Amino acid sequence: MADSNTTSSTTRSKTGDQAAGSTLSTGHEYDGIQEYDNPTPAWWHIIWLATIVLSVFYFYMSLWSPMFVHQTERLVSAQEEEIKVLFADLGTLENEQQTLLTLMEDEKWMTFGAAVYRGACVSCHGADAGGSVGPDMLDDYYINVASITDIHDIIRDGAAGGAMPAWGKRLHPNEVVLLSAYIAKLRGTGDGIRPPEGEIIAPWPARAEGGAADEPTEEAQTMADPAAADSAGS
Ligand code: HEC
Repeated sequence: MADSNTTSSTTRSKTGDQAAGSTLSTGHEYDGIQEYDNPTPAWWHIIWLATIVLSVFYFYMSLWSPMFVHQTERLVSAQEEEIKVLFADLGTLENEQQTLLTLMEDEKWMTFGAAVYRGACVSCHGADAGGSVGPDMLDDYYINVASITDIHDIIRDGAAGGAMPAWGKRLHPNEVVLLSAYIAKLRGTGDGIRPPEGEIIAPWPARAEGGAADEPTEEAQTMADPAAADSAGS
């Protein structure tokens, strides 16, 4: 076997020597393997060069050409435009008790709040706001909230060292106010998944017709939620 191998390699090498001068071989040989002169075809070169030329054109078009607006820019400006139109009749919302209480009654804006909630908050607070990573929004227990206007600041600035992210830079200021009203409205609408966390707080004040809402009186609180008043008294 070894012999026949040697023979065949010698034979090949001989052939190689013979072919060295011909167009079939480059004359380069290593370990008994000869390199044939077998150039890539012209069409292959043309395609290869064309991809290089195209890549330069592509980079120019996608990164620098004024003709081409980047997808994300287009999306952001479309969203800004949409929000401008949407908020045109709303003006600048302030985080005020009366504003929040009025918005809570506004079906259109609460639908909007629900949409923002679905996009940004569901992952941690649960689809029905019953809580998952974050606390539930349905019961009377709150960790960082004592009055209705506290919700806004928690959403804007975050809490617990970022476990509750700050949304102030990611959402339009009006969105934060609308979302606060939506969160306030969720209170008492179902059963939480997580156990109660924090302290029982007084019910949201009643909405004043026309004028500014007053702070709830002791009596109003007792009427609205005897349990809360009991625990506050004890
Ligand atoms: C990455 C998870 C996460 C996301 C997303 C998130 N939250 Fe939170 N949130 C938390 C955690 C955790 C807490 C509890 C903070 C603490 O213990 O002080 C919290 C607390 C809160 C509170 C205060 C509740 C209380 O009992 O004091 C509000 C209000 C709130 N989140 C609203 C929102 C809204 C609105 C959104 C969507 C814009 C949102 N959160 C998105 C994790 C999250």
